[in-house]
Amino acid sequence: MRELIDRLERCGRLDKEEWTALIGAAKDAEYLFEKARAAARRHYGTDVYKRGLIEFTNFCKNNCLYCGIRRDGRDTTRYRLSEEEILDCCKRGYALGFRTFVLQGGEDPYYTDDRLVKLIAEMKAAYPDCALTLSIGEKSKESYQKFFDAGADRYLLRHETANPDHYRKLHPKEMSFENRKKCLFWLKEIGYQTGCGFMVGSPGQTAECLAEDMLFITELQPDMVGIGPFLPHHNTPFAKEAKGSVALTLYMIGLLRLLKPNLLIPATTALGTADANGREKGVLAGANVVMPNLSPVRVRRKYELYDNKICTGDEAAECCAALERSMERIGFHLAKGRGDPAEDQRKEENYV
Ligand code: 5AD
Repeated sequence: MRELIDRLERCGRLDKEEWTALIGAAKDAEYLFEKARAAARRHYGTDVYKRGLIEFTNFCKNNCLYCGIRRDGRDTTRYRLSEEEILDCCKRGYALGFRTFVLQGGEDPYYTDDRLVKLIAEMKAAYPDCALTLSIGEKSKESYQKFFDAGADRYLLRHETANPDHYRKLHPKEMSFENRKKCLFWLKEIGYQTGCGFMVGSPGQTAECLAEDMLFITELQPDMVGIGPFLPHHNTPFAKEAKGSVALTLYMIGLLRLLKPNLLIPATTALGTADANGREKGVLAGANVVMPNLSPVRVRRKYELYDNKICTGDEAAECCAALERSMERIGFHLAKGRGDPAEDQRKEENYV
């Protein structure tokens, strides 16, 4: 597999058969991770960027089969943070050195475009030196434009899987990969720094599905890609499904780093949940972002996308201090600043 890894490093693209073979075998992981770390180092040094995650509502109108806050999740206690509470999260986050805030929530109809525009404008007015990322699902192009005009800088919308049949197995029939894809291209067109992503090991996923994810990412050329292992939630139709592999998630992180060396790739909470050292391993496989939780402790357990989610009991300050130490231990450090994407330094002539 080394030749394929070398070629990926050189030109950033492979065809579907090559991706499928590489992902299906998942061999030479250490060789891959070394190259992935070198690529990350060339673009970001030993910096790891931190993003303050604010999980502001767990109401959701969607019924995704894997997700613990799906509409039909009957034991989920629903909550919604007020504007004041959200701004208070930012205040505490700012004091802890955060310069990116991520507003993440279910698709909650209470948060109309007008309410969101007002909230975005207030957050940007209070923290003009911070980047604001939205992660609030599928909207119309007009809504995305309004949020951007109000000051939002970035948008995360995981595509979940780029194989339309697989997409249908994970989602209710009113959702489609086609619409997801359309949303992602709108976001890029409008000018957001755009992030997609997928779960590793979701029910029905094959190496070919993951190959299609890599081809989709090659086509979209996002700024950010978030991935984590699928983890079952007890109150979903996928409660009894096997969890995704940490080793394969790490392998995919390494491949993503070589696919697009200036990508912002988080070592996700799901990875940290599946393995006590998952986030450190993620960074050592090529990730360069962490997303500690700034939500008030009282609501943390309620934003349970999957079982046993970590960091649901600790204050943000404690989580951050621990993460800071663990990054230092592996030779990285949490950087100051917004953490915008670096220029791709790969030479054009290599794209063959
Ligand atoms: N396991 C792992 N990741 C999940 N997500 C949702 N449910 C699960 C789960 N059971 C991920 C989805 C979503 C992101 C916010 O969390 O990819 O886009």
